[in-house]
Amino acid sequence: MYRSRLGNDLSSVTLDYVSSINDDLDIALYDIIGSQAHVLMLYETKIITKNDAKKILLSLENLKNTKLTVNSDAEDIHELIETLVIKNAGMASGGKMHTARSRNDQVALDIRLKIRDDLNILCNCILDLSEEMIRVGKKHQKTIVPLYTHLQQAQIGLFSHYLIAYADVLLRDFERLYATFEHVNQNPLGAGPVGGTSLPIDRNNTTTLLGFDGIVENSLDATSSRDVVAEYVSMIAILMTNLSKISEDFVLWSTSEFSFIDLADEFTSPSSVMPQKKNPDILELTRGKTAEVIGHLTAILTTIKGLASGYGRDLQQVKPAIWSTSKTAISALLILKSVISTMHVKEKQMKKTSASSYLVALDIAENLVKEGVPFRLSHKITGNLVHIAYASKKPLNKLTIKEVTQSTNNTNVKPDLVQKIIQTTTIQSSLKERKSLGSSGYEEQKRMLNTRMNKINSCRTQILKRQHDLTSAFDNLSVKVGNIVK
Ligand code: ARG
Repeated sequence: MYRSRLGNDLSSVTLDYVSSINDDLDIALYDIIGSQAHVLMLYETKIITKNDAKKILLSLENLKNTKLTVNSDAEDIHELIETLVIKNAGMASGGKMHTARSRNDQVALDIRLKIRDDLNILCNCILDLSEEMIRVGKKHQKTIVPLYTHLQQAQIGLFSHYLIAYADVLLRDFERLYATFEHVNQNPLGAGPVGGTSLPIDRNNTTTLLGFDGIVENSLDATSSRDVVAEYVSMIAILMTNLSKISEDFVLWSTSEFSFIDLADEFTSPSSVMPQKKNPDILELTRGKTAEVIGHLTAILTTIKGLASGYGRDLQQVKPAIWSTSKTAISALLILKSVISTMHVKEKQMKKTSASSYLVALDIAENLVKEGVPFRLSHKITGNLVHIAYASKKPLNKLTIKEVTQSTNNTNVKPDLVQKIIQTTTIQSSLKERKSLGSSGYEEQKRMLNTRMNKINSCRTQILKRQHDLTSAFDNLSVKVGNIVK
């Protein structure tokens, strides 16, 4: 449609190479709505007549319910929609739709509208998953489990502690995406190809109509910057690395060696050859897809970094990376929520594994500290105790007074005191006495679960307000369209 200055048409191979039409289906509806706002503005600023506006808006309205066929000569969705509007409304009116705008501000607009919706969906999905973590956490405030460092048993803990940790990291993902929305929700429309227009447009008008919080003012910035896209995909890359890490824990715990959880059958896969297999493919795919999202981020940053100011067609390539990133993250959040709500937690096995090691060693050392022994000394004595117990294959509380005495050699700490402490320090006593802020003891679990639930609820209120603002802007837009087309 635009090739009057050029001699020949594109060959089909070249058109296929140049075209983004397949990738653009994800923004078709946004393109139509954005065009409606633009046309309303053109009418309200008296750049076009009511009759022209009516014909264009009606065509656009019809297109909302039309299945767009992508096999046309159009290079992208903007060309396709304009062609269809002109076909339907006639050149005299339809030919005015693209007045005072360019595909450069148009595509920047569509991308922002799409990311804005995806952000709200993602924020809701994150809250749903966090809430599921807390819900399961509430059931496991008393479920004893080892905590690891270096993947070696470190301290005794409670299973809810893991789930709260996951919820906490997810709530930070929520905050990151919530904040990103503020950068995204700015209107680039009206920037023209790069330097604005001589026609008397009103950019504030489309800003309100489309529910934006502000304007991307500088027309060069508005049309050619994609830092906000990079920000969005970065935040999701971080979110995905968090989901990937959570998945890894579950993969590990579902092994026969750990046997801490059983994944529900519907979230596992069989083997084509080994009949006994139950593989955690879905969790593994979360790890794999995380790599893909990081790849998208790399592709986007690499595209942006060397581009001269002003739109360059390279920017067309970032779109599918955005859509794929959104889709992957939304699916991962939804699926992980179901994995967690359906998994079976094997409390007995967790407890058995916890008891078979020397997980209360630090609690013993701290109980000695409470009796006035310097920590470095109590650490040494407890280390000796573990050394002797390990060699004689005994639990700590079964050490004889002779063995205990051996552990206190060259110190003035009384063996009787040490023996009393090893006999009274149990998993239960440790979890009862561990009360430091944020620790994996009984008391803190209860408090943390409650504060997280309150936080999730207040985040839900914030998101609802945002969604409500967008819905009322769009309702208002359709009322205005309705008033003209009626
Ligand atoms: N299909 C293009 C894209 O997605 C739209 C903008 C084209 N602009 C241009 N000046 N060729 O980025």
